[in-house]
Amino acid sequence: MTTTDSAPSATGGAEQELQERFDSSIAKDRRIEPRDWMPDGYRKTLVRQIAQHAHSEIIGMQPEGVWITRAPSLRRKAILFAKVQDEAGHGLYLYSAAETLGAERTELTERLITGRQKYSSIFNYPTPTFADVGVIGWFVDGAAICNQVPLCRSSYGPYARAMVRICKEESFHQRQGYELLMTMMRGTEAQREMVQDAVNRWWWPSLMMFGPPDGDSPNSAASMAWKIKRHTNDELRSRFVDMTVPQAERLGVTLPDPELRWNPERGRHDFGTPDWSELQRVIKGDGPCNAERMACRRTAHEDGAWVREAATAHAAKQAARGPRGPHTEEGTAA
Ligand SMILES: [Fe+2]
Ligand SMILES: [Fe+2]
Repeated sequence: MTTTDSAPSATGGAEQELQERFDSSIAKDRRIEPRDWMPDGYRKTLVRQIAQHAHSEIIGMQPEGVWITRAPSLRRKAILFAKVQDEAGHGLYLYSAAETLGAERTELTERLITGRQKYSSIFNYPTPTFADVGVIGWFVDGAAICNQVPLCRSSYGPYARAMVRICKEESFHQRQGYELLMTMMRGTEAQREMVQDAVNRWWWPSLMMFGPPDGDSPNSAASMAWKIKRHTNDELRSRFVDMTVPQAERLGVTLPDPELRWNPERGRHDFGTPDWSELQRVIKGDGPCNAERMACRRTAHEDGAWVREAATAHAAKQAARGPRGPHTEEGTAA
């Protein structure tokens, strides 16, 4: 039995059989595919998580995007341009993955710009210096890698497959950030101070990216049981700390946590507790840049209306002509 042949045919007691087949696929680590039967809760959880992830990629273009015109060299501009463009691509793959679950991209966008769906709170912090571009690559894309590498084994096929390519690109993002910071650390005293200042500002918000502590994370248990998520928030946070500490030493910066130290018995780092009330405030819309990010996204949506209209009109025209010529829907010559 494969998961792909479990097409929905619920009549009478068939629902229970479908549920059993679904449970067995999950237990055996088989992928769930779009045409497979799945419980409503599984579908809803995935749509919420994938949409929130997609929104984060798109909103996440803003804090760094403002530096494209001010990058200090052509090389830095080209790298940053490529990185920000990658994030747009990640958003598109993820919206497509959500569409395989029956969600409409227009509806998801509507939910974002009306504030009914969230994006990662990390993007509500400002980027006052170019060192922020480096620290975002190092910390934020680094945290994204910790979060997303296990998602390549997520139980939902389209989500897991989108993650494979996204993770490869996130790895480039982290490296370009770290390399930028290395260069600045070899520069002037003022540049080193700029890097340390950015590290101080981004460290705690980056730890918050993994979400609230496990005891306070209502959706985690179901996501773990369905194998959408493979590790808890606290486990992922801890992995991120263990990965980042040696990188900070090599770079020559201090992480702003007096409780941070190696615990030889656990074989891991102990570290302080983030200010969870700050996370709650930012999630509720009261972060330093929430209003700015949302205003910018709404304006972009309004400015793009003519493109959507033109694309829709073009698609309608193509459809009316039928599947002739080189531009059929499948992209193959008929
Ligand atoms: Fe991304
Ligand atoms: Fe990234």
